[in-house]
Amino acid sequence: MDVLLTTLTLTALAGAAFLLARRYRISLTRNIGPIVMSVLCAAAVVAFLFLFYRTPGTEIGVAQPIPFSHRVHVNVKNIQCEYCHPYAARSLDPGLPPVEKCLHCHKYIIANHPQILKEHHYHDTKTPTPWKKANYLPEHVVFNHQRHVRKEVACRECHGEVEHMDRIRGKFFYMHFCIDCHRERKANLDCWLSCHN
Ligand code: HEC
Ligand code: HEC
Ligand code: HEC
Ligand code: HEC
Repeated sequence: MDVLLTTLTLTALAGAAFLLARRYRISLTRNIGPIVMSVLCAAAVVAFLFLFYRTPGTEIGVAQPIPFSHRVHVNVKNIQCEYCHPYAARSLDPGLPPVEKCLHCHKYIIANHPQILKEHHYHDTKTPTPWKKANYLPEHVVFNHQRHVRKEVACRECHGEVEHMDRIRGKFFYMHFCIDCHRERKANLDCWLSCHN
C-alpha cells in the first residue's frame, strides 16, 4: 500500500518534471549537471524522511525517561493492564500511571535502584514523568478506547504483545488498520459520524 503510493507519487513527480522541461524548452542533455543535482537532492529528502520515520522509535521502541519495562511488569510480575491504564474501559483515553502509582510498589521494591530514585525526584519536584508517546494517530481522528474495550476487542489486537516488550514499539495507525477490522466485525464504517471530526 505505502510502497505503491510512494512509487506512484515519484512517477507523477518525474512525469511533471519532464513535461515542465519540455514546456520551457530546457534541454535535458545540456543541463544534465543541475538535473542530476536536483534528482540527488530529491532522493536525499526521500531517504531522510524514510529514515526519520524508521528511527528506533518504530523499530526497537522509543527510549523513555525511566526505562520502564512492560515485559517485567506485565509478564514477569503479572500486573494487569487496567491497574496502570485504568480508564481504558471508561473513557477515550486509557491514561498513563502517575508516579505515585509506581511508588506504591517501589517505596518497598528495589527502593534504592537508581531508576527508582529518579521516580522519587519526579515525585518530590511534582514533575509529571515526561513519558514519550510511542503511538501515533493523526489529530483529525477520534479514537475511543471505551467503545472497543467494552466490545471485548483485546488490547493486543491493536497494541501487539506489549507483555513481551521492554520498550513499546511505536506504531502509526493508518486508516486501513481501522477499516479492515470494522469491516470484519461489522462495526461502523461511516466516516464522518464516527471516526473523523
Ligand atoms: C505497572 C504499570 C503498567 C502496566 C501493568 C501496564 N502499563 Fe502500559 N504503560 C505504562 C507506562 C508507565 C507507560 C509509558 C511509558 C512507556 O511507553 O513505556 C505505558 C505505555 C503504554 C502504551 C504506549 C502508549 C503510547 O502511545 O506511548 C501502551 C500501548 C500500553 N502501555 C499498553 C499496555 C497494555 C496493553 C498493558 C497490559 C498488557 C499495559 N500497558 C500494562 C505502565 C503500565
Ligand atoms: C504492583 C507493583 C509495581 C508497580 C505499580 C510498578 N512496579 Fe516497577 N517493578 C515491580 C517489580 C516487582 C519489579 C521487579 C523488581 C526486581 O527485579 O526485583 C519492578 C521493576 C522495576 C524497574 C527495574 C526493572 C529492570 O529492568 O531492572 C523499574 C525501572 C521499574 N520497575 C519502574 C516502574 C515504574 C516507572 C512504574 C510506574 C509506571 C512501576 N515500576 C510500577 C513492581 C511494580
Ligand atoms: C481498537 C484498537 C485499540 C484497542 C483495542 C486498544 N487500544 Fe490503546 N490505543 C489505540 C490507539 C489508536 C491509540 C493512540 C491514540 C492517540 O494517540 O490518541 C492508543 C493509545 C493507547 C495508550 C496511550 C495513551 C496516551 O495517553 O498516550 C495507552 C496507554 C493504551 N492505548 C492502552 C491500551 C490498553 C491498556 C488497552 C486494552 C485495555 C488498549 N489500549 C486497547 C488503539 C487501541
Ligand atoms: C480489532 C478490531 C478494531 C480495530 C482495529 C478498530 N476498531 Fe473501532 N470498533 C471495533 C468494534 C467491534 C466496534 C463496535 C463497538 C460497538 O458496537 O459499540 C468499534 C467501534 C468504533 C467506533 C464507534 C462507532 C459508532 O458506532 O459510533 C469508532 C468511532 C471507532 N470504532 C473508531 C476506530 C478507529 C479510529 C480505529 C483505528 C485507529 C478503530 N476503530 C480500530 C473494532 C475495531
